[in-house]
Formats: sequence, structure tokens, C-alpha cells
Amino acid sequence: MIKFKIVAKTFAGLENVLADEIRALGAESVSIERRAVSFSGNQELLYKANFQLRTALKILKPIAEFEVTKRDELYDRAKKIPWTKYLALGKTFAVDSTVQSELFVNTMYASLKVKDAIADHFREATGKRPSVNPDDPDIRINVYLMENRCIISLDSSGESLHKRGYRIGQGDAPINEVLAAGMILITGWHGEKDFFDPMCGSGTLLIEAAMIAKGIPPGMYRKSFGFEQWPDFDEKLFADIYNGDHEKEFNGKIVGSDISVKDISIARANIKNASLTKVIELQVQDFTKLEPPFQNGIIVTNPPYGERMKSQSIGELYNLMGNTLKNKFAGFKAWIISSSSEGFMNIGLKPAKKIDIFNGPLPCSFRCYELFEGSHKQSVMIKKRIQ
Ligand SMILES: C[S@@+](CC[C@H](N)C(=O)[O-])C[C@H]1O[C@@H](n2cnc3c(N)ncnc32)[C@H](O)[C@@H]1O
Repeated sequence: MIKFKIVAKTFAGLENVLADEIRALGAESVSIERRAVSFSGNQELLYKANFQLRTALKILKPIAEFEVTKRDELYDRAKKIPWTKYLALGKTFAVDSTVQSELFVNTMYASLKVKDAIADHFREATGKRPSVNPDDPDIRINVYLMENRCIISLDSSGESLHKRGYRIGQGDAPINEVLAAGMILITGWHGEKDFFDPMCGSGTLLIEAAMIAKGIPPGMYRKSFGFEQWPDFDEKLFADIYNGDHEKEFNGKIVGSDISVKDISIARANIKNASLTKVIELQVQDFTKLEPPFQNGIIVTNPPYGERMKSQSIGELYNLMGNTLKNKFAGFKAWIISSSSEGFMNIGLKPAKKIDIFNGPLPCSFRCYELFEGSHKQSVMIKKRIQ
């Protein structure tokens, strides 16, 4: 099979885990870029990347790369692309652009120029043109314009890959599925220990953890991918990948709790929809008052960052969380993501690791606290001795 360049897009901070995932699929020439990883692969790898990469948002196949020094050049160069190879007349299309260029201050304008170039190319070649459908197109074209450099790609994913297909409900601040999977992979956890999210909201971290532990591909619940609409779609090749032997045995525990009855019922519905009811246990509990559901596990959690909190200050909540971890969770590793520096300042624990990561537009820190056996007892004794 012919090899070509593939680009996987992700969130800032997840490039390294994504590169590891891509290498594990057997890709060559893996190179880390800003919010993306590029690599070389064939059609099989393109399908696998969409179906199996947990930390990719989009998988792009670049089809043209050129310099643009004048605005008209974008239309001229885009019109020369052999579009009839990539798009059949009966299919609809849309063009998305990412633009940071003095030549094109208006992102929409770049999309419009490429859309016109595609339509005019078709009209000249066939006398007809395919229709545009901006909301739900069959074929998505991606334009990336950084100063004078332009890359035009086919978007092989279609809808963003964070839309796994299992979510039927969400709380006030659900974490993005790709970010949740990335956080878990950063911790190095693949199901070795029992897993706990004490502020689980709609259950995203729990579901992503269960999928990692059981080897369920993230694309398993999705209804479709963009490449299924391409003229060269190889149905048998994709069916073989889809039906492959992915799952592995997992006998550990994955437990979630939340103070909100409503959030736990949303989590329950999502977990049921993902057919993971037998793998994940849920309970309504205040984290600052609960007993550990098991010993020596891992906690990965996404507490409130303070924006919507009314009754309690963010400092008080994180202080109580820190005390609970110290007093009750010796033997655990706790990984916490937050944008709140006030929260982290009040947690009263020294992080063993700090990783910069973005949650949407919010710059966050993802911190690991190692809660050693006896460390609380020791610190109490030291305090007593000092008194
Ligand atoms: C940012 S949301 C978590 C979102 C979740 N990761 C998801 O994907 O839906 C924070 C959660 O912490 C919960 N929470 C706030 N205070 C809590 C407490 N003291 N104990 C347990 N849960 C708490 C909220 O009910 C909310 O669901």
C-alpha cells in the first residue's frame, strides 16, 4: 500500500502521549508539532489512527502544500488540485480553515476562496459542481494557512474524534473525552491498579479509564468516520480493523463518586450506553467525607475550578480535599487537574509532578501527589515533637 503523510491534531500538552500512541500503531517518521503529530503511513494506518488513537482530535491527510505570497494565489493553487479524485459529484462538501496570516485576516475568506476553487475545478472538468453543506458535509476539506505557508488536507475523521458516541448526557462542566484519555495515559495507568474518580460528574474519566483497561478502541461506539465517504474507501480493510481482536482482560475496580445525585444519574446513563455497567461502580458521596473504596489505587480527578462555586471558597474545598487525601488515602497516587492556583496553594501537599495542559481555553496544571503509607502519621508525630 502507498505511504503518505498523515497529521493527527490534539490539545496543547498532549503531543507526547499522542506521539507514543502513534508509534505503538507502527507509524514511521513520527514528528511532534504544535498541537499536532505528523507521521507517515498507508490507508490501513489512516483508518487505525481514526479508530484507535485516544488522544487525537482529527486525522488529516495533506493533499497539497504551497507558498502563498498574494491573495489570488490561494484560489489559483487550490483550483489545480485534482478534486475529482477526492470528491464525487453526488457528495456534499465543506471547507474549514485555520488561518494566521497577514494576507488573510478573515478566516472565512480563505474557506470561501478554496470552496470557489473546488466548484470551478469541477465545473471546468465535468460541467457540474458538488453542493456545499456547512453543517453535515460528506467530505471535509481543511485549510491551514500559517503566514505564507498553506496546507490543504482531507479531513479523514469527519466529526471531531472526541465525539466517541457514548455520551448521552453531561453535567455543568464535562471534561473533553480526548483530554480525559490523555490525562490517564500521562499517569502511565493501563489498568494495573484500581482506579477512583471522587468527583466524577458525568463519568468521562471513568469511561475512558475502563476503555483503556479493557482495550476498547475509542472509535468503537462511533457511527461514522469521514473516510467512509471517500471514493477510495476500502470497506473490507476497515471491517477487518473494526472487528479485530482489541479487548483485553481487566479484573480491577473502577469506582466513581460525586456529591451530586443528578451527576451520578447522568454518569450512570453514559456508562450504560457504553455497556460498561459491570466494570464501573458509582456512589453519591462527598469526597471530603468518604472512605476509600479500596487500598493502594490511583485517583485521577477533575474538581471544580471555582467559577460556579457559591457556598464554599475554592481554597476551602481544596484544603478539605488535601486533608482527605493525607488522612485516608495513604498508598494512593492522586492526579488532579485544575486551573485554580488558589486551589492548589490550599491543598497542603507537595506535588511529585506538575504538567502544563489546557482544558479548552483554560491553562491548567495536572499534578501528581504521592501519598505514602505512614506519611500522615509521621507528619503528625513530627508536629507533636516540635510542639
Ligand atoms: C468539573 S466537574 C467534573 C466533570 C467530570 N470530569 C465530567 O466529565 O463530567 C466537578 C465535579 O465535582 C463535583 N463536586 C464538587 N464538590 C464535591 C465534593 N465535595 N465531593 C464530591 N464531588 C464534588 C461536582 O458535583 C462536579 O460534578
